[in-house]
Amino acid sequence: MAVMDEKRRAAEAALAHVTDGMTLGVGTGSTVEIFIDLLTEKMAADKMSLVCVPSSFATGHRLRAAGFRVECLTSISTLPLAIDGADEVDSHLALIKGGGAALLREKIIAEAAQEFIVIVDQGKLVSRLGVKMPVPVEVIPPALSLSLERIRELGGTPKVRQAHLKAGPVITDNGNFILDVTFPEITDASQLDSYLITIPGVLETGLFPHQASSVYVGTDSDVKRLVK
Ligand code: 5RP
Repeated sequence: MAVMDEKRRAAEAALAHVTDGMTLGVGTGSTVEIFIDLLTEKMAADKMSLVCVPSSFATGHRLRAAGFRVECLTSISTLPLAIDGADEVDSHLALIKGGGAALLREKIIAEAAQEFIVIVDQGKLVSRLGVKMPVPVEVIPPALSLSLERIRELGGTPKVRQAHLKAGPVITDNGNFILDVTFPEITDASQLDSYLITIPGVLETGLFPHQASSVYVGTDSDVKRLVK
């Protein structure tokens, strides 16, 4: 499939930033899964060793299965490099993330990273955040009703994300709900992020206005690098 080739091209480009012995933050999603597969091959071929810090249970499981040493986020305050996917990328490298419901740990990793490299297929590029993807917001269960009301007051239309293979809502790795919030227009992602975060019980949003250092975009024949 063409889009998988695009993801692979972006993932391949990011590999060059990984060096022997480093502690690497690893995000979540299908592009990151491709990246982990390529990284596994590179580690074996170059006889490198790494410590990986995953942003989700799913990524940690995949990394362990591939033979990587995995360290818990709890003991990490800084990382030289982290690699992750995104759901939307605008021309200022602001992102929407959280399609895989891992946004809280993804943001901790992105903030801890000295360099945060994003890998996407070209379908993720948007003229303005929010045009294709609602903003995911992670909310602790007791704050559900309050946060739905406060988000509506901010002009958003929230929906509690539903699970596919179980009845009821998606439960994140942290035991919380995800609200997918549509806004008529996102003109200032930083400001919207700040407003949402002040609602009691909102833990994190999928708006990443400034975290990305660079973005590799896989196209149908090539890969391009967007830098701030
Ligand atoms: C998970 C994420 C992912 O990075 C995002 O959803 C992109 O996923 P994919 O690489 O499968 O398109 O933010 O919470």
